[in-house]
Amino acid sequence: MCGIVGYIGKRNALPVIIDGLKRLEYRGYDSAGFTILSDKGEYITFKKAGRVTDLEESIDFEKYIGNVGIGHTRWATHGEPTDANAHPHFCMEEKIILVHNGIIENYKAIKSKLESEGYKFKTDTDTEILANLINYNYKKTNDFVKAVQLSLGGVDGTYGIACLCTDEKDKIIAARKGSPLLLGVGDEEFIIASDAAAVLSYTRNVIYLNDGEMAIVTKNSHTLKTIEDVEIIRDIQVLDMVLEQIEKGGYKHFMLKEICEQPESIQNTFRGRINFETGVAKLGGLEKVLPQMLNAKRYIITACGTAWHAGLIGEYMIEQYCRIPVEVEYASEFRYRRPIIYKDDVVIGISQSGETADTLEALREAKKYGATTIGIVNVIGSTIAREVDAGTYIHAGPEIGVASTKAFTSQLMSLALITMMIAREKNTLFSKTLREMAQELKQIPEKIKRMIDRKEDYKSVAEKFRKSKNFYYLGRGVNFPVALEGALKLKEISYIHAEGYPAAEMKHGPIALIDKKMPVVFIAPKDRTYDKIISNIAEVKSRKGIIIALANEDDDNIKNYADYILRVPKTLGIFAPILNIIPLQFLSYYIAAMNNRDVDRPRNLAKSVTVE
Ligand code: M6R
Repeated sequence: MCGIVGYIGKRNALPVIIDGLKRLEYRGYDSAGFTILSDKGEYITFKKAGRVTDLEESIDFEKYIGNVGIGHTRWATHGEPTDANAHPHFCMEEKIILVHNGIIENYKAIKSKLESEGYKFKTDTDTEILANLINYNYKKTNDFVKAVQLSLGGVDGTYGIACLCTDEKDKIIAARKGSPLLLGVGDEEFIIASDAAAVLSYTRNVIYLNDGEMAIVTKNSHTLKTIEDVEIIRDIQVLDMVLEQIEKGGYKHFMLKEICEQPESIQNTFRGRINFETGVAKLGGLEKVLPQMLNAKRYIITACGTAWHAGLIGEYMIEQYCRIPVEVEYASEFRYRRPIIYKDDVVIGISQSGETADTLEALREAKKYGATTIGIVNVIGSTIAREVDAGTYIHAGPEIGVASTKAFTSQLMSLALITMMIAREKNTLFSKTLREMAQELKQIPEKIKRMIDRKEDYKSVAEKFRKSKNFYYLGRGVNFPVALEGALKLKEISYIHAEGYPAAEMKHGPIALIDKKMPVVFIAPKDRTYDKIISNIAEVKSRKGIIIALANEDDDNIKNYADYILRVPKTLGIFAPILNIIPLQFLSYYIAAMNNRDVDRPRNLAKSVTVE
């Protein structure tokens, strides 16, 4: 979490830093700050609790003219989100200035050691301790690069840093371990950033740093080294992304834009990967591990949040159509309970960002046991994408809203393609069935468009329930994880309490909460559980609960039970969750927007959770 930006080059640094921080704000928005080396050779810093726009509105840009600077937007871990705890942080002597994304786990031990050397600290942050450690090593070596290397060599935990030293003015040192970092290489300028979004306005040429690597950047040169001082030669990559993809394009919120982009994002996920006539699905990135996928006795899917919900749906797909047992694990739990992992297991990590610390560590754990690791990832070049044995990109395009929408449906589409690929190879589905699936898959973007055209209907349901305090979301079978995801969407952006449950579990306890104020969203498409779910609806209705039913366009019967209906097109079971989640995304979006929530940057959250 946290976003960092550093600039050195021919331009005025501050506007580049502020622009970059705004684009990285999805990574954390508790406080923001910057340090600029002014034309007069002085270091000037401004930092403040609150959003980047609060910071921007409080500064007189004329005061901060200079071509070198670093900036930070924070998601608080150590220390409250106060002005003092905002980055950049200084060492006691104000010689080392640092912005940091990550957690220094052995900060207490380092602090005690430094205190015994007479160091004093002004803030509650682990970053201030690292700045002082670099200073301590600088005093011993009189060499900025060596001081950073020595310090990082003694640190446990994660970091992405950009660091200045007042003795070596025209230089920024950046380094990473466990937190993403890249270097934008422009024409006589360099931009260090946590994510490509912050460099895209200036250059599409980038170099990604790997764990344990650092970049030493001056106005006209860059050198890459490992923390152990081994020089690295790395080619520049050209970003396959344009600025419009990361801008709102006339929508009020990124989330709304991203919901409405789903016809295209889904198409991008399956483009070139399926033959509609034969039903053959091919995922180039997985070819080299196909033998392991076919011979595995079990798949383990690991992920967090929305991606975990996608994993639960993947379990239904793979077990039902490929007949391979699947276990789905919260990544944060998986690695800490000495999991039993066999060499012939296939462990699939699902992650939009490709940087989620728990998912990354779970995959690393699986690798240690010799399992084959696979990534289903959106962000190209992200750490998970680079570390797994093989993978498939979902190609959903940049997702900026903190609430994941289009990445979720593209994750589901990727899982459906994997299912079709494996089922064909293992002969667990007839060719005719695969052809029918492929023909239906082709219709999915059009069916999503139909729902987008119907968004005013979903909005009118949202209007009725914007003041509700609690919600239930209920579904059966593959729609149970859809219920979980619908509830998560509502919770995270509107701060309304919502719970997802398997519909039949209601009567084992939660039904006690039903009364005339409780809206209950039933996911009730016409599938083999339909009659059962109608009975569950009746159980809630007879206790005066309010029924909002998500039902197929041709389902007239539902009118006999539901107070409000969210209509969805009919599709095959394997694709149903992709369609069924969309009205629920709209419902939560409109409820949050009507309640004036900060939809794209909900409180306490960050898009990319790179701390464990
Ligand atoms: O980048 P990832 O897919 O690994 O992120 C996982 C979760 O942090 C993420 O899905 C989170 O739950 C979203 N805010 C949900 O909308």
